[in-house]
Amino acid sequence: MGEAEIPLGLDRESSVSLAAQLANQLRSAILRGILKPEHTLPATRRLASELGISRGVVVRAFEQLSGEGFLESNGAGGTKVAVRPDIQNSSSAKRRTGKAKTAPELIDLTPGRPSGAPFKGREWRNAWKKALSEEGTTHLPPALGTALLREAVAEHLALSRGLAVDPEDVIITGGTSDALHLVVAMLRSRRGSPRILVEDPGYPTAWRVMSAAGALLQTVPVDENGVRSTQLAALEDTPDAILITPSHQYPLGGRMAVQERLGLLKWADQRGVLVLEDDYDSEFRHSRMPLPAVASLPTNAEVVILGTFSKNLSPWLRCGYLVVRGDAGQRLKASREALDTPVAGVLQQALAHYIQGGGLSRHTARARREYAHRRALLIERLGSREDLELGALDGGLHAVIRFQQPEAATVAAQALQQGVRVVTLAGYYADRPPGNGLVIGYGAVSDLQLAQALKVIADLLDEAH
Ligand SMILES: Cc1ncc(COP(=O)(O)O)c(C=O)c1O
Repeated sequence: MGEAEIPLGLDRESSVSLAAQLANQLRSAILRGILKPEHTLPATRRLASELGISRGVVVRAFEQLSGEGFLESNGAGGTKVAVRPDIQNSSSAKRRTGKAKTAPELIDLTPGRPSGAPFKGREWRNAWKKALSEEGTTHLPPALGTALLREAVAEHLALSRGLAVDPEDVIITGGTSDALHLVVAMLRSRRGSPRILVEDPGYPTAWRVMSAAGALLQTVPVDENGVRSTQLAALEDTPDAILITPSHQYPLGGRMAVQERLGLLKWADQRGVLVLEDDYDSEFRHSRMPLPAVASLPTNAEVVILGTFSKNLSPWLRCGYLVVRGDAGQRLKASREALDTPVAGVLQQALAHYIQGGGLSRHTARARREYAHRRALLIERLGSREDLELGALDGGLHAVIRFQQPEAATVAAQALQQGVRVVTLAGYYADRPPGNGLVIGYGAVSDLQLAQALKVIADLLDEAH
């Protein structure tokens, strides 16, 4: 279907921003059937020049409507009106699917799924073209990662995290799971089963991976601000390593105070404990700047940063990195050399081109705006309810709701019957009595889907009271 003719008029005197006016008019044209599914919208640059506004305003309006599920970007093919079963007046949608009614799609609020597909964009495809046209691709990629990606990661960390990292200290991994596997293999090469202290509640996948790799796990009960140095000082046994999420406690969502970070480092230094800093989503802060990484604080303790492209790009890539130093760093490098890399050379090169061309920072900035919008929606829909506590809102791609009644597992089961998948908070607890609540991942759903899902959850809570 061709390009759409849309009557648009913007009021420069209005208190409503130009981007919001444009988004409102486009939304209303879609809802009234003037703009139909598969209509292509004019290119942002052309529309901006026709309306006499900056291109950024048009981009913001398009992003807003993409987030709401009204538009979809087709990479070089332009931006199209999305096919949505909930807009019934769309005859072409019916023609396309061959049915007048389609079963409602499952709205999946499982956390850990990031926004849309950066892979549809031109920048990503160009990065791959460049990687595929490189010479000298008939050998194994270097075990620690390609020089280009190690450099790109160092640049990315300098920009996004203010960290001064030597590319030599970067090891490319197949994501956090692979990094943890490597850490356990390294610790095992020194002595039997290493003991690793983990936060409870925490990240069950990390527990599973480290146990399967041969580690013995100990848990420490934490609240949303993570582990306290007094708890560490009171431990009878000293673990070999501690896994923490200081920037954004997973899943409760707070952050570790600076004094606690310093206390932890002192303890780790005195007792020879390796600190594993899982810095999985620090790009996505909504209300406060992230604190500097624990690894950047002055200390003699050995700290390793575990980074991932699963949140700022996609878990589909299966790629991440470690930033290492000291003896532990040398031993981790030796283990990786011995075990070889699981990460394809061509993927590493494409990712490096994408990062160095600015694609990752642009994608992250877009995703951050989308998440901030959905977070605002969550606050608007659930924030004033007295029967629940809404938390983990400071950053990331998920929020937590905690309530007394009814049982969270019952709410999750009933929500699934109504087409909404949501996980319970209980699944993140190991040894302590679990909290009653739900973890709401809002990275991969549109605003409209999120609003529908929140209504289902709110109605279920209402019914129970
Ligand atoms: C706490 C935490 N760390 C790290 C990750 C990323 O893991 P990976 O890089 O193995 O995909 C996730 C993903 O959900 C996570 O929740």
